[in-house]
Amino acid sequence: MYLIAGATGNVGRHVVTGLVAANEPVRALTRDPAAAGLPAGAAAVATADAAADATLDGVTGVFVHAAVFHGDLPGFLAAAKAHGVKRVVTLSSLASVSPGNPIGDHHLALERQIEDSGLEWVHLRPGAFAVNTLAWAGQIRGDGVVRLPYPDSHTNAIHERDIADVAVRAFLTDDLVGARPVLTGPESLRQDEQVRLIGAAIGRELTAERIDAKVARDAMVGGFVTEAMADWMLEAQAEMVDNPAPISPETERILGRPGRTFADWAVEHAADFA
Ligand SMILES: NC(=O)c1ccc[n+]([C@@H]2O[C@H](COP(=O)([O-])OP(=O)(O)OC[C@H]3O[C@@H](n4cnc5c(N)ncnc54)[C@H](OP(=O)(O)O)[C@@H]3O)[C@@H](O)[C@H]2O)c1
Repeated sequence: MYLIAGATGNVGRHVVTGLVAANEPVRALTRDPAAAGLPAGAAAVATADAAADATLDGVTGVFVHAAVFHGDLPGFLAAAKAHGVKRVVTLSSLASVSPGNPIGDHHLALERQIEDSGLEWVHLRPGAFAVNTLAWAGQIRGDGVVRLPYPDSHTNAIHERDIADVAVRAFLTDDLVGARPVLTGPESLRQDEQVRLIGAAIGRELTAERIDAKVARDAMVGGFVTEAMADWMLEAQAEMVDNPAPISPETERILGRPGRTFADWAVEHAADFA
């Protein structure tokens, strides 16, 4: 039995689908079980009941998403261990590779709490998700001009389903225990090239237009993203102007196939932009 946090989200939903497809029993955490819309075969469980006996009984593996256990991850992990959970697969971040930045430090703290629990762990360290480009959907549906501070900045965006496929592998085999695989997409693309590929997927000519970084920063801050995080993300984008984004070999090595391309992702999500 696997317990998946963030189960209705960009990555977690695919983890649930992947485990169900492998005929594994799944409990899926969500704050609103009635609205979760999970695949048949997965049982929705209220996030508030994450540490309850009925939730943890029989669970051997837990997928941890940072936002879901905010506040008391150590308490949850202690309860999980007491119930016989063996392994945690963590949705961490590539930012953890370079400590000292606010996003990396946030995820490193999460990783350390999990390591301190004494449970087996696999920390997945993905770079930018392809789904981040959904933030452009309003502009694409509008005048078809995507306004970006660094349209010529490169990214190695990863398809969320590839992250989930690695997570499923991390649960169903022992190959990744104690590993921190860096996961990226298979290619380096400029953001204006991503805009063009979304245009190709929806059959419209789209363009990217440069805007002031300060305007972009104001739009980024809010929710999980602090001012310091927005500054770090913009600096990272500025550094990737004219520099191809590094491609991690780990995704292909673990999955035994190349990662899904951004063009594939755009075709799958065409309806979200139309
Ligand atoms: N986006 C990127 O480029 C990127 C790159 C590297 C790492 N990451 C990391 O990946 C994680 C995001 O993954 P994701 O996009 O799959 O997540 P997501 O879709 O944003 O959220 C997953 C689910 O978590 C639940 N949730 C959200 N906020 C919550 C809260 N405050 N309390 C309890 N439950 C909450 C929601 O489910 P319910 O509403 O059903 O409860 C949501 O559907 C973050 O930790 C991020 O730092 C992101």
